[in-house]
Amino acid sequence: MAEQPRLGIIGFGEVGYHTAKGLRESGLQTIWAYNSGHRYRPPYPPEYRRRAEEIGVTLVDTLGELAQRAQFILSVTSPASAVSGAQEAAHVLDRSHIYVDMNSSGPRPKQEAAAVIEVSGARFVDACLLSGATVDLHRGLTYLSGEAAAEYQRAFKPFGMELEVIPDGKPGDAALVKMLRSILTKGTMSVLWELSYAAYKCGVDLRQYQRALGPFRGDFFAAADRTIGYGYVHARRRAEESHDIQETLRDHGVEPYLAEAYEKRLRWAARWEDELRQRFAERTAPPTALEVLQAIEELEHAVAPASAP
Ligand SMILES: NC(=O)c1ccc[n+]([C@@H]2O[C@H](COP(=O)([O-])OP(=O)(O)OC[C@H]3O[C@@H](n4cnc5c(N)ncnc54)[C@H](OP(=O)(O)O)[C@@H]3O)[C@@H](O)[C@H]2O)c1
Repeated sequence: MAEQPRLGIIGFGEVGYHTAKGLRESGLQTIWAYNSGHRYRPPYPPEYRRRAEEIGVTLVDTLGELAQRAQFILSVTSPASAVSGAQEAAHVLDRSHIYVDMNSSGPRPKQEAAAVIEVSGARFVDACLLSGATVDLHRGLTYLSGEAAAEYQRAFKPFGMELEVIPDGKPGDAALVKMLRSILTKGTMSVLWELSYAAYKCGVDLRQYQRALGPFRGDFFAAADRTIGYGYVHARRRAEESHDIQETLRDHGVEPYLAEAYEKRLRWAARWEDELRQRFAERTAPPTALEVLQAIEELEHAVAPASAP
């Protein structure tokens, strides 16, 4: 049997965890992960270690250890930390490594990250994941560009990853696909946020007016629950991504009117992300959109009781 690829993951959050879980279930025997964010960093708390152990992932305490053990290094931290993360990783990488940047940043940060990684001798892959990791695990459609894209595809396709290489693609080309598609996805998300909160504040129960929602009816409420009830934990990251969309469009001579607006709506939602995480921390299932909107209204009142409408 061919030797299995050695995978190390930087950022053991939603994508890191679910990608690892899917790959382990598909037969990849060893995966290492390193996390150093706002909430979890070495030495990791016992429940965080347990979560990794349950799916057969070994947490390591340093980037150096990750690089020693793994050949493929997957970065899934955040768009905002993609370049600084690459700078940190470059210190411990060499020409034996392939660094796969799966953060949803724009072409410019991807090119900067690639330049930093390539100085270490390692090769860079720009990867854009186009679906939610909680549902699709490691199988979400992912476009790849960069010189080692085909090698990454060859190594992980046998485990069920849906990897598409952009022919002759350079770092930034996969990111461009993601940014363009985000005009639709982020735009829809911010419409859902704005409409749902506006209806809630106006005292209109949209369920009574399903027909008025036109082509969205049927799955509007499920989409709102996904975007708001579950997605409030992603509002900050999505606002950052909206910022990258603006930069990308401006680089191509397009004024990003909509992306400016939806960054504003997502930043509004992101303002409450930490409080909402705390409030719903004990819940086993995500809250509904309505519960999140009620909580935001309370938080807004608590911050500015006098000026609240
Ligand atoms: N979620 C999705 O379905 C999805 C889909 C497509 C693309 N993406 C992209 O995938 C990346 C990860 O998304 P996510 O949803 O998994 O976010 P997440 O749940 O917030 O996970 C990110 C993880 O990285 C850790 N981290 C942050 N900065 C770090 C650093 N400098 N070094 C090491 N670890 C660090 C965080 O730790 P703390 O929690 O301790 O801060 C967290 O555990 C993002 O760039 C996102 O744009 C996500």
